[in-house]
Amino acid sequence: MNLRIAPSILAADFARLGDQVGVVERAGAGLIHVDVMDGHFVPNITMGPLVVSALKRVTPLPLDVHLMISNPDRYLDAFARAGAATISVHVEATPNLRRTLASIRELGVRAGAAVNPQTPIDVLRDATDLLDHVIVMSVNPGFGGQAFMPQSLERLRAVRALVATADRPVDVEVDGGVDLTNAGAVAQAGATILVAGASIFGQPDPAEATRALLKAAEAGIVLG
Ligand code: DX5
Ligand code: ZN
Repeated sequence: MNLRIAPSILAADFARLGDQVGVVERAGAGLIHVDVMDGHFVPNITMGPLVVSALKRVTPLPLDVHLMISNPDRYLDAFARAGAATISVHVEATPNLRRTLASIRELGVRAGAAVNPQTPIDVLRDATDLLDHVIVMSVNPGFGGQAFMPQSLERLRAVRALVATADRPVDVEVDGGVDLTNAGAVAQAGATILVAGASIFGQPDPAEATRALLKAAEAGIVLG
């Protein structure tokens, strides 16, 4: 599977969102990561389907919607209609992961499950046939700009091994604190999508930062 960079707009300037997405798109970003927070599952409140539909009008890149919300089943339809290409729900917020993943797929959207740093990845084991991707959280969700948790490398390797048993390719996405110092290592550990907020939109030149991250990730694969 190709390595892709997913800039997280959580770190972008919301007053210039369309422009900022255009910049990373032209620099080779593979998808746009949209962090949805409800002030309940996580302490922060961010954005909803309206922002997804606004982005859909300005970029051809797939919109990778990461739901950090309680009761995600209630909002799947709204995000699908808004133009999400993938929707990920947190396993900690989902009483029946298989049912939720099946609902996402029925909407014609790629289905993902996100796991918090303390959650055993075994919860994914009996849902691999319904998963298009897994988000391995490398920070506690809620805020951008946190430090990468080094134990995430081991978890990435374990998830990569777990999804290798599926009968089709499953993306492994790493989310939180990804930067130039760890991009090679996460790719080597099995990540195929690298989410990056602060290390892209927090930089003076987000286009150059996108290109540099992709290069660093690819170098990790070569070395691995
Ligand atoms: C954290 C979010 C992340 C966040 C990543 O709760 O899920 O997607 O935007 O931002 P950085 O790369 O700044 O850690
Ligand atoms: Zn995220």
